[in-house]
Amino acid sequence: MEYHNPVLASEAIEALNIQAGGTYVDATFGGGGHARLILQALDENARLIGFDQDEDAQRNALDDPRFTFVPHNFRFLRRFLRLHDAVEVDGILADLGVSSHQLNEAERGFSFRFDTQLDMRMNQQGERSAADVLATYTEAELQNMFGTLGEVRNSRTLAQAIVRERQVRPMRSISDLLAVLDPLVRGQRNRYLAQVFQALRMEVNDEVGALQDFLEQSLQVLKPGGRLVIIAYHSIEDRMVKNFIKTGKVDGEMEQDFYGNITRPFEVITRKAMLPSEIEIKANPRSRSAKMRVAVKI
Ligand SMILES: C[S@@+](CC[C@H](N)C(=O)[O-])C[C@H]1O[C@@H](n2cnc3c(N)ncnc32)[C@H](O)[C@@H]1O
Repeated sequence: MEYHNPVLASEAIEALNIQAGGTYVDATFGGGGHARLILQALDENARLIGFDQDEDAQRNALDDPRFTFVPHNFRFLRRFLRLHDAVEVDGILADLGVSSHQLNEAERGFSFRFDTQLDMRMNQQGERSAADVLATYTEAELQNMFGTLGEVRNSRTLAQAIVRERQVRPMRSISDLLAVLDPLVRGQRNRYLAQVFQALRMEVNDEVGALQDFLEQSLQVLKPGGRLVIIAYHSIEDRMVKNFIKTGKVDGEMEQDFYGNITRPFEVITRKAMLPSEIEIKANPRSRSAKMRVAVKI
């Protein structure tokens, strides 16, 4: 089975406005779909540094002297770029979220299609799994997680049910969780489960926190004129990206200098997020929620 089908591929490459001899970062290497296209646009002196915290992605590392694979979280972008003698870069691409490979590998526990351990760690060395989150979070924390990250409407009832269940028996497998979820489903079952699973996955991997760290460092490592291209699949992430490229802050607060002038770190190329075409969505339904934003560092 294919590892991952890159989303908005030609659009992302065009958005990077690649300088043939430049240094580029693919922060979410995955199956290397985007990375291969970036390399094709680079000459022999250029460099591409690919990050992925999932050790499975390392198997796809490109056999090319211009390519370096960094098996770490992109929230340490600046540190690892420095380590690999790439203090400043000409462009950064991040295609957030999970790969098809992660969703299709039953034992990784990302999908409710399989009955396996409640894992969901992108980094197999990560300290906490989905089972740990369900076992240790307070009712209020669970409610907040499902409500905010999953937009689950009955997040309070769900949090109460989880706390009640774990007092009787620990929830370790997907079927343990489904037994709690099924009586609580509101609306379409698959949609409800997808929301709950998305919230858990984002929490296990601290995806919002990692994105915040990454965005802040992207500004520090991009050269003036360098491009930032981000494809997000969740409204919280897209909002953070939108705010960040507009103001330099993920919460969207404008920074002012001593005289009250607003400092803008980026020229925003995409006033509105770019979306996949109907044709792409039909061919690759996982592209459906993608939103791409592009900015040039001033
Ligand atoms: C949507 S896939 C990227 C697919 C890739 N663009 C391709 O064409 O194959 C996202 C990948 O980013 C990785 N990832 C997600 N968050 C990460 C993070 N904070 N640090 C490093 N890798 C991350 C995941 O492990 C996954 O392999």
